[in-house]
Amino acid sequence: MVKLAAVILAAGKSTRMKSRMSKVVFPLAGRPLISYSVNAAKSLGANPILVVAGPDQNDVEVIVKEMGARLVYQREALGTAHAVLTARKALSQFSGHVLILCGDVPLIRCQTLETFVHHVINERATCGVLTMELQESGAYGRIIRDLDGCVTRIVEAVDAKGDDLAVREVNTGIFCVEKTWLYQTLKKIEPKNQKKEYYLTDIIHYAIREGQKIVAVKGKDPREFLGINTRADLAEVSKMMRERINLQHMLAGVGIVEPSQTYIDADVKIGADTTIWPNTFLIGKTMVGDGCTIENGVVIKDAKVGDGVHIKSCTVIEESAIGKDAVVGPFSRIRPASLIGRGVRIGNFVEIKKSELLDGAKANHLSYLGDAHVGARVNIGCGTITCNYDGINKHRTIIEEGAFIGSDTQFVAPVRIGKNATIGAGSTITKDVPPEALALSRAPQVIVKNWRPKNKANKASKASKASKASKLQY
Ligand code: UD1
Ligand code: CA
Repeated sequence: MVKLAAVILAAGKSTRMKSRMSKVVFPLAGRPLISYSVNAAKSLGANPILVVAGPDQNDVEVIVKEMGARLVYQREALGTAHAVLTARKALSQFSGHVLILCGDVPLIRCQTLETFVHHVINERATCGVLTMELQESGAYGRIIRDLDGCVTRIVEAVDAKGDDLAVREVNTGIFCVEKTWLYQTLKKIEPKNQKKEYYLTDIIHYAIREGQKIVAVKGKDPREFLGINTRADLAEVSKMMRERINLQHMLAGVGIVEPSQTYIDADVKIGADTTIWPNTFLIGKTMVGDGCTIENGVVIKDAKVGDGVHIKSCTVIEESAIGKDAVVGPFSRIRPASLIGRGVRIGNFVEIKKSELLDGAKANHLSYLGDAHVGARVNIGCGTITCNYDGINKHRTIIEEGAFIGSDTQFVAPVRIGKNATIGAGSTITKDVPPEALALSRAPQVIVKNWRPKNKANKASKASKASKASKLQY
């Protein structure tokens, strides 16, 4: 096991994001940006992991602490060297190499970092820098090598001139440096450049002067080092992340009909032989079982879906559990804290909130079930409504197993319907119904024979006179 600490640079106002939020807390595939660098450092066994943030970035602190990393505040953003220097005290007990990462470069692969770090340590190098080759070097620092291919300098784009400016090998911003030497050197750096900043890249100059060993490792895929500065960058990186996530699922046996239109967050788990149609969003910590079908337009957020479930088009499910072999949708809405049992059927325009429907229950059309317990095999007729809210409090409706609820029933909660009871269609149920009973609350039907409304009767007699008159003309 190598001795490794990590310093992740995340200070600075996210000016170009045009947001009150720190850039590194923006979500990417459902996780904050900063978490990708922290996780990468963790997977390499780095300890401690320190995140450098600005004094007004409290939003970063919560996330960093939750992930078991530590935040150090850089009072003023005076440059990358100054940022690494702020972590000095927090590393006082540590000896070994320090991996320096950026908080806004989330596509970096653990494998790439591992190869880089091992190379630096195996070569017994004091200072390692990870580079990449670009078609257009843009604003990146240029890696200048001598005739033997050894790195001699890193020149920032704003400070570069002539041939240096045209160099296509650039600094990814990722370094791995022996700690004691790093901190001795950082103190020597001066802000003698266009930006008047303390440049971390200047450590190369000192390493050469002191004859320290430097290695520069070129990363194979420059896309891994794409940084995020604007919301447009975030969208581009999100797309790449999505491709990566979808590919992983497909290789593990998940069918994705159109990957470019399937949005699966990083923490989502999906079983084999599940098929996902386009325009679907599987969000947060959602778990989908084996052999499911998720049709188009479905949104599932932080929910657990059992094996063999069929979620039909345009259904929204949040923070709920769907039992094995259930069929939900099309156009159903399952709101938080609902529990849908095995083989349950929920049909079109049915809204369920904080309710459980036990195994084999059915609510196939146009209903609202809120704060309800629906027992096994209960049939909920079309247009059933639980009136759960009295304007101040929410109340529960309990429907015991095997009950049959006729269409257009309202349950004025709190109310309990006994086992195998039947509710006649069109009833407003305000009192408990005992088991095995029939409850009806509608007004009895009245029949008046040979009856017509007065005005209609008049119209009818006029019409018959008129038709007689017209017949006479022929
Ligand atoms: C830096 C490198 C450049 C490299 C590029 C890769 C230097 C001098 N230049 O340039 O060679 O090609 O990254 O993206 O290092 N930060 C702080 N505190 C500060 C300044 C920066 O925490 O005082 C953090 C930023 O939040 C960011 C990272 O350090 O995550 C890089 O800083 P940035 O100002 O973007 O440096 P670049 O000019 O892009
Ligand atoms: Ca940058």
